[in-house]
Amino acid sequence: VTIRLADYRPTAFAASQVEMIFRLFADRTEVETTTTLERRAGTAPDEALRLSGDEIEPARVAVDGETLGPDRYAADENGLTISGLPTAGPFRLTIETVLRPEANTKLMGLYSSNGIWCTQCEAEGFRRITYFLDRPDVLATYRVRIEADRAVVPVLLSNGNLTETGDLGSGRHFAVWDDPFPKPSYLFALVAGDLDLLEDRFTTASGREVALGIYTEKGKAGGAAYAMDALKRSMRWDERRFGREYDLDVFNIVAISDFNMGAMENKGLNVFNHKYVLLDPETATDGDYQGVETVIAHEYFHNWTGNRITCRDWFQLCLKEGLTVYRDQEFSADERSAPVKRIASVRGLKAHQFPEDQGPLQHPVRPREYREISNFYTSTVYDKGAELVRMIETILGADQFRAGMDLYFERHDGEAATVEEFVRCFEEAGGADLSQFARWYNQAGTPVLEVKEAFDHDAGRLTLSFAQSLARGSAGTGTEPFHIPVRFGLVGPNGQDIEASPVSGAAIEGDVIHLRKAEETVVFGGLAEKPFISILRDFSAPVTLKDEQSAADRLALARLDPNPFNRWRALSDLVGQALVDATAAARRGEAAAMEPEVADALIASAGDISLDPAFRAQMLALPSEADIARLIGVDVDPVAIHAARNGVVEAVGQRAGRRFDDLHREFRSRADAYSPDAASAGRRALANALLEYRVAATGEAETVAAQYAEAGNMTDRLAALGILAHRLPEAAETSAALADFYARFEDDALVVDKWFAIQATIPREDALDGVRTLARHPKFRLANPNRARALVGAFASGNQISFNRADGAGYWFVAEMIHSLDGLNPQISARIATAFRSWRCFETNRRAQARAALEELAARPGLSTDLKDIVERSLA
Ligand code: ARG
Ligand code: ZN
Repeated sequence: VTIRLADYRPTAFAASQVEMIFRLFADRTEVETTTTLERRAGTAPDEALRLSGDEIEPARVAVDGETLGPDRYAADENGLTISGLPTAGPFRLTIETVLRPEANTKLMGLYSSNGIWCTQCEAEGFRRITYFLDRPDVLATYRVRIEADRAVVPVLLSNGNLTETGDLGSGRHFAVWDDPFPKPSYLFALVAGDLDLLEDRFTTASGREVALGIYTEKGKAGGAAYAMDALKRSMRWDERRFGREYDLDVFNIVAISDFNMGAMENKGLNVFNHKYVLLDPETATDGDYQGVETVIAHEYFHNWTGNRITCRDWFQLCLKEGLTVYRDQEFSADERSAPVKRIASVRGLKAHQFPEDQGPLQHPVRPREYREISNFYTSTVYDKGAELVRMIETILGADQFRAGMDLYFERHDGEAATVEEFVRCFEEAGGADLSQFARWYNQAGTPVLEVKEAFDHDAGRLTLSFAQSLARGSAGTGTEPFHIPVRFGLVGPNGQDIEASPVSGAAIEGDVIHLRKAEETVVFGGLAEKPFISILRDFSAPVTLKDEQSAADRLALARLDPNPFNRWRALSDLVGQALVDATAAARRGEAAAMEPEVADALIASAGDISLDPAFRAQMLALPSEADIARLIGVDVDPVAIHAARNGVVEAVGQRAGRRFDDLHREFRSRADAYSPDAASAGRRALANALLEYRVAATGEAETVAAQYAEAGNMTDRLAALGILAHRLPEAAETSAALADFYARFEDDALVVDKWFAIQATIPREDALDGVRTLARHPKFRLANPNRARALVGAFASGNQISFNRADGAGYWFVAEMIHSLDGLNPQISARIATAFRSWRCFETNRRAQARAALEELAARPGLSTDLKDIVERSLA
């Protein structure tokens, strides 16, 4: 069934209050749900009530306390229909269900993870707990009573504030949680078990005392200290930056080891994948620390953008996700380095969102239709959604943007809103017309923006000509011109922006050119000499930029641009082109080479003391093999890409020689204690980037094996292990280090995931053999999402040459694994299957192999809706 935005209708009945009783037993959970319902005005008096349900059965149905006979209701595969309900006024509907959480491998609804009962309801999990109006525009207050054995299940948690606890005799106890804020069912949560707790407090700006708690499996609460710190910083930041305070007496987080996604923003009770809570310098990398900080912030920020104001329907998902990603990006930019954060976000966007937008899984930021909503928690909705919010800020300016956000919070608090309502707040508060801008929500695809420059010496005039175009892609949505905000600067030879007066052309406000037509020009006058043109600063719009800048201009901007993001972009464009050229050379059987000027610019940036180390590490980080494949676009040969990229790293390392040795010596970690702060992490990132070039240049394992053995933290240890495994897979040091790593950390699930992932991504065609063996390893568990992602997901999306093997064996293996996984957890099988989305970019033979594997998979009986949807769209 296809659900369409155009078919949206409010429900026939409204719900106001939900009372739930959960009775937890070792072998089952009994759920009794009583909902106060009422016909909405205009609903016919004989209209039946239709509730959603998924893999449940009604044990009892009652209205106002009276049990209904089976003639009054009918259950089917997708829900329950109840007829003969009161024609007017509120009534109380009670439904009893019996659940088996330990048998729930989909990890949606109520399930059990390492002995902990927990729930995941977004998007459509609540209907696996009880029959309900399980959609985001039905808002009700919840009172939840949980009963369980005190010895086995001492901790009982749900949303809101704890209002009552007590003893039930025979070893059982109960707790009652009251959530005063009306919410949709997807924000419901329950957690129960024998958990450890890390406690803290927070006083809000207006003086509310909030008890903070992070719950973990036994013995692990110490690992939540950094997460707790990040939570308090997030709470303070949202007060300062957006004037948003927390609104309950408690805020709890629970870390769970079996979790489909990163985390979930349930009101007052966030549930997290333990990967985004637990940290220790011995076992977690700098990247893990950043991930925890970001996800903690993201879920906390949802309290206002998602919970207080939720979505009318799932088509509006970007209303909460894009906006909340924008907010967590801004938080990270403020807490760490803004340019480095921006570079990382844009790299992520190009690596994940661009291929999605340019392939068969394309959809607009606000989709028009879906078969399975779980498949729309995508980079387009999240990351491009965040870019759209960022563009609104760029168009309006910081103050008007804040005024628009204030209006949004004020006007829509307590509501289930739409994208139109969101945009209208900025139009009203900012006095802007965003009607053309709103196309960004509805038209899928990455627009191409071409820029041409012409300089008239005698007249002192610079003409910039812009042409935007949008190809119609698989989504089949419109191709009208966008309102594109282009942040820019004209850079003088001394590295300073020149004040140039626009003479004519498109609207310019400050440093932003507002493009609105398919073709437009801007003319600047009063220029004594031709400036360097720094266009699309900070990546002010998610477009593919095509300019005709000379290599000399790019090299100059890589050195001079006062906008750090564009300094990085200038170099990165040169390096990207060099890698595309090197790939073509590799295909002709020639050795990889890089223009000496580009190699020198790369080497110089590593030693530029005016730049902070984290930024320098970004300059040194070459595009991945998948990035290069995207730049090439058609007839891709992954083996040639791999050879070219390796060759370039080696050549740059050799050219740098002593200079990289010295820098590495300067930045490599000393024996002092580990600190996860941004500056220390930046030094480690730079040192490890340098180490990789050195190893590539010399081919010797000794230094890196020594770093592996002596490392005082996981960042340095894992970097060394990665360099060994990926650069020197055959060295004796590599197998020794892999064995040592496993022996050291075999009891830590999150580190074992790293061990699987590093081997899954060894860039050799025969890595597949290793992956097959690992799939039979005693620690491999397909049912654990992190483990499945660490092996199968990492292989499919992170091993270009082995997944895309010419003989198709990588595709067939992944198809087989996905199929096994689909029987357990369709959300994860469908997610991993998206690795096939770029199959049409490859050369003929691989394309044929991928198509055959996908077609064979699509034809198998009994596929989940989730997986069927991805596979069929990929083939369409
Ligand atoms: N709302 C969560 C977040 O982004 C993600 C939940 C996704 N759930 C799902 N079933 N796809 O913070
Ligand atoms: Zn989110």
